[in-house]
Amino acid sequence: MGSGQSIHGQWSSRLTFILAATGSAVGLGNIWRFPYVAGENGGGAFVLVYLLCVLVIGLPIIMAEILVGRRGRRNPMDSIRVLALAEGRSPHWQWAGLLGVLTGTLILSFYAMIGGWTLAYLAEAARGAFVDITPAAAERMLGDLLADPWTMLFWHSVFMGLVTAVSVRGVEGGLDRAAQLLTPGLLLILLAMVGYGLSTGDVGRAAHFLFAPDFSRLDGEAVLAAMGQAFFSLSLGMGAIMIYGSYLRSDTSIPGSSLAIVAMDTAVALVAGLAFFPVVFANGLDPAEGPGLVFVTLPLALGQMPFGSGFAVAFFLMLAVAAWTSAISLMEPAVAWLVERRALSRLRAGLIAAGAIWALGILSILSLNLWSGYTIAGRTAFEALDYLTNNILLPLGGMAVAVFAGWTLSRAVTADELDAAAPAYSAWRLLVRYVSPLAVGVVLVGKLLGG
Ligand code: PFF
Repeated sequence: MGSGQSIHGQWSSRLTFILAATGSAVGLGNIWRFPYVAGENGGGAFVLVYLLCVLVIGLPIIMAEILVGRRGRRNPMDSIRVLALAEGRSPHWQWAGLLGVLTGTLILSFYAMIGGWTLAYLAEAARGAFVDITPAAAERMLGDLLADPWTMLFWHSVFMGLVTAVSVRGVEGGLDRAAQLLTPGLLLILLAMVGYGLSTGDVGRAAHFLFAPDFSRLDGEAVLAAMGQAFFSLSLGMGAIMIYGSYLRSDTSIPGSSLAIVAMDTAVALVAGLAFFPVVFANGLDPAEGPGLVFVTLPLALGQMPFGSGFAVAFFLMLAVAAWTSAISLMEPAVAWLVERRALSRLRAGLIAAGAIWALGILSILSLNLWSGYTIAGRTAFEALDYLTNNILLPLGGMAVAVFAGWTLSRAVTADELDAAAPAYSAWRLLVRYVSPLAVGVVLVGKLLGG
């Protein structure tokens, strides 16, 4: 253990690991979800709490996930099992790993549907459909898409095809190369957009909205939303970062890489907000518009701007690429699990996982139209899946990893993997043993009680 290699291979360099993990973290969560959740929760104060959560929950747990993966060198279930056994502890810890594999599968089933929307919008942007579009027409465009299961199924299938094409090529030929090509591309388009947003929109108001805290808007719900957002955005709690850690070379610094990934993810969320809210404010749109913010208001805003079509293509291209690199990581725990546990080839494992996820995605697609009348506890299938994974399974998984790394693994093992200076290591251990599990407990109980 530790010095060996995963049977799936390893990242070609420290930089590719950081790019791959950043590609996983930066996704729909940053660009589509962060701005609207910040908008709904009043902006500045929410952003402040979010940053605090990233530091005291996100950073310690990302280090815990990477170290467990690298030490175990297997899929999340078996990494946890071999490490527990090596410590003379119960192998039942492995169920936390299996839970992660299942959570990723569930999340990807609806994440891919939304990834499909980004492709559909990319196609619309490319044919100039947003030019001079009216608010009613923008609403209708999204409404038409959601009412049309065949079109959604088509784009959902294309999206899953893109994910599978990378995944079946394995770590070195697929994930590693995708990270090298796609993540820098994504960051470049984003930078270009910021430049455009800064030069055309109402930046002053956007910065004020994002950074001037108004604590009167900060209630318990907003704090919970900020914590949940930190989990989802950093890809924590389901083994995605853990499996990426299992492909990491032994001589790479975990604290240093974790800092880089967390900093990039946070910067992209803030930069997306800075690029995005100027457009919202310059056009007099409502920042608390909700999940439709990207898919309704942006085509509207972009359609009114000079060169809006080019900007719209760049925007939805970036969103699609961001979703793609995240989706690859959502599927990886399941693929690695199938290869190791079922002795399947990577190709077969990838096709089976993708097929199952694709089929499950049909449930979410139909829940927006033909089956919208069928609900579980008042939620459609899509809403129920989203609620179950984000509000329950990710926090549970994250808490399990924190407790496992903080209490089950011995000090000798974690200190050896983290190789950090004494004060930094002590701070990590304090956070991962007490602060993160407690904070996550608050999220979980709060969400469950609050509905
Ligand atoms: N972090 C991704 C995003 O912000 O869109 C979503 C995600 C990817 C969540 C991978 C969980 C995960 F394991």
